[in-house]
Amino acid sequence: MPEQTFLDIRHLDAGYGRSQVLFDVNIGIPWRGGVAVLGRNGAGKTTLMKTIVGELASSKGEMFFDGRDITRRRTEERVRSGIGYVPQEHSVFARLSVRDNLSVGSLSNSDPTATDRVLAIFPKLGQRLDQPAGTLSGGERKMLAIARAMLGNPRLLLLDEPTEGVWIGVIEEITERLIELAKEISVVIVEQHLDLALRVADYAYVLDRGRVALQGAAGEVHSDPELLRYLAP
Ligand SMILES: Nc1ncnc2c1ncn2[C@@H]1O[C@H](COP(=O)(O)OP(=O)(O)OP(=O)(O)O)[C@@H](O)[C@H]1O
Ligand SMILES: [Mg+2]
Repeated sequence: MPEQTFLDIRHLDAGYGRSQVLFDVNIGIPWRGGVAVLGRNGAGKTTLMKTIVGELASSKGEMFFDGRDITRRRTEERVRSGIGYVPQEHSVFARLSVRDNLSVGSLSNSDPTATDRVLAIFPKLGQRLDQPAGTLSGGERKMLAIARAMLGNPRLLLLDEPTEGVWIGVIEEITERLIELAKEISVVIVEQHLDLALRVADYAYVLDRGRVALQGAAGEVHSDPELLRYLAP
């Protein structure tokens, strides 16, 4: 586990009804920097993100954020206390314009320059402010989702596959932004692109059928001969 723990997940079980997906998951997320969550399709990565943000209740275990027990806290409270979330799907309001999506994201942000700052980070969005978000390209939509989450001023940002379905050139752009962001705040990234994930992350957890099967410094995990076995279909 990384040294200073900002989000501390202990012995977490979660699932859907009687189908348990996560088993005794222990994860520590530091105050700053990137942490990758890896694992093959169905390993439980999205389930873990939903449990952290409180969309899904855990059936066992505890979760501490910034030293406070959030295990039973509602999603709004977790978001207000600084947890941002970019879900894998439906992460923007398709019928709303880019501008209105950003306005919704900045509701809790009292800084009038915040929107300009995220537009400076993702300049492509600035050219599409009046376009409905549903008509954006996959890459632009991911950027909008990240920009919107950033407007909530998160101290911990959860990103569930931020480059899924995105063209390689835009992947590079998103990666660069996430590396910058991880210098300021804590970034948890679920990614299929191993190289990308381990460039953003200092530390990695690998889930296998809902359990933490492997963890360590990003470089160590990358070169671990077991890794490919856990990621193979
Ligand atoms: N709402 C749900 N109801 C019942 N089972 C679900 C539900 N959502 C997910 N599951 C199951 O939970 C398991 C873990 O799913 P999850 O979405 O967490 O995987 P994942 O690691 O994010 O996969 P992927 O890489 O494909 O996104 C899968 O077997 C999935 O079918
Ligand atoms: Mg998923």
